[in-house]
Amino acid sequence: MAETISDIINDPICSFAKGEERGVHLLKQLILFAPNNEAAFELRQQIEDEVGHAELFNTRLKDLDIDCEGLSKNLDSLYDYAQTCVDEKDWVKSVSVQAVIEELAMASFIYRYPELDEKTQTVLKKVIEDEKRHLAFCLNQLVKFADSDSRARTEEVHKNSISIMRAAAEQEGLSKDQLNDAKEIMKKAYFLHNSRLKKIGIALPKVSFSKTKPL
Ligand SMILES: [Fe+2]
Ligand SMILES: [Fe+2]
Repeated sequence: MAETISDIINDPICSFAKGEERGVHLLKQLILFAPNNEAAFELRQQIEDEVGHAELFNTRLKDLDIDCEGLSKNLDSLYDYAQTCVDEKDWVKSVSVQAVIEELAMASFIYRYPELDEKTQTVLKKVIEDEKRHLAFCLNQLVKFADSDSRARTEEVHKNSISIMRAAAEQEGLSKDQLNDAKEIMKKAYFLHNSRLKKIGIALPKVSFSKTKPL
């Protein structure tokens, strides 16, 4: 059955729209243990951006009369994991998991972009621009704290994020098509992220995406 615009936006854009609020909640806690004023300043800017994204998404969804379901299980479990990194007040782990979330958000938006109407595309363009900057900040921080111990923590966070996402996507009760979309988005995010991390000397565990079982 052909997907409607509502299906396309509901999965996964709706989820990231809902995720903005959780992102803001995490960023507010992250400021409290930022390593310097410069990083705290950047985080405050990011909070403003994410609040702006939530508004942009909500306005667009309202105009399209789309009532979003809650956060998808795989994204929700990733935010739960991010909360544990923030609870540890581990700066390197926290910016690592933030990098994963930013990368995934961008991969989702770019994946869905061609199917969307012009107005929604304009919203996404603005959001992608900001998320790119946020991701660059996270990677910069990882370069700044690149001793062997922090590298190991970054790799651990990425490994955990990948398994959390894959497990949740498989348990969510998605249709074969939805699971395939989720898998494609994760695959795109993984390869892009891998090449970015490689440049700063961080290795991701090897992942075979073909092993994701359709339900
Ligand atoms: Fe955002
Ligand atoms: Fe962001």
